[in-house]
Amino acid sequence: MMKREIYLEPDSSLAQGGGRSVYQHPEQPDALIKIIRPRKSPLGLSYKMRPVKRRFGTFKTAYMEYEEYIAALARSGSVPSFLPMMLGFVGTNLGVGMIVERINGPQGDLAPSLTQYAAKHGLTDTLRAEVNALVDQIIAYEIVAFDLTARNIVVAQEHAEAPRQLMLVDGLSENTFIRGKVWIKPLYLRWIADKRRALLQDLEATGKAANTASLP
Ligand SMILES: Nc1ncnc2c1ncn2[C@@H]1O[C@H](COP(=O)(O)OP(=O)(O)OP(=O)(O)O)[C@@H](O)[C@H]1O
Ligand SMILES: [Mg+2]
Repeated sequence: MMKREIYLEPDSSLAQGGGRSVYQHPEQPDALIKIIRPRKSPLGLSYKMRPVKRRFGTFKTAYMEYEEYIAALARSGSVPSFLPMMLGFVGTNLGVGMIVERINGPQGDLAPSLTQYAAKHGLTDTLRAEVNALVDQIIAYEIVAFDLTARNIVVAQEHAEAPRQLMLVDGLSENTFIRGKVWIKPLYLRWIADKRRALLQDLEATGKAANTASLP
């Protein structure tokens, strides 16, 4: 049986996003635990008024992520290779955590985010092609990824000689009240084309800033 209650050293997070802290799963080397950080202010009126927020509270993001993930499984009949596996929930001393597959970089360290990677290497033609291939895969699965940004994509590599793979680690789901992109394909395609353009522009700027910074 797997443990249902796990102790996490509070200061040991490997990475942080705007809302969640990411910890190593102490018993499973290939898994991470994402903990929603406690809110500074109590849930406001909009939480009481909106049914999904009212029902799921701070777990709304987790619920929406799972919904989008399951929709992709149902649509394709396969587990997308560019998304970390979503492995359920576990109790911890820091609150209930989401267990996800850990994506590694070439040295077995946590994979760098695409932002970090582009800042170091610039937006090369190869990287641009890899970003385009990731977005093409997202479109093939018709996944809505409201936060398709470089900080939510990581560069996976099993070892230094292995091929790289970009993986989308966060930002699944449609986060608007009216959920048109899920149902209306032309709307979805137009929207994701804009996301692709913005992502590439952002990476170009990150890469250029890095080049400028490294000039003598
Ligand atoms: N499965 C994973 N494997 C490797 N690294 C990961 C994984 N999931 C998240 N990370 C790293 O941890 C960071 C924070 O995680 P995540 O994006 O899920 O947090 P968040 O608070 O939801 O982010 P946001 O600020 O985008 O809402 C990511 O930017 C990424 O660098
Ligand atoms: Mg994130």
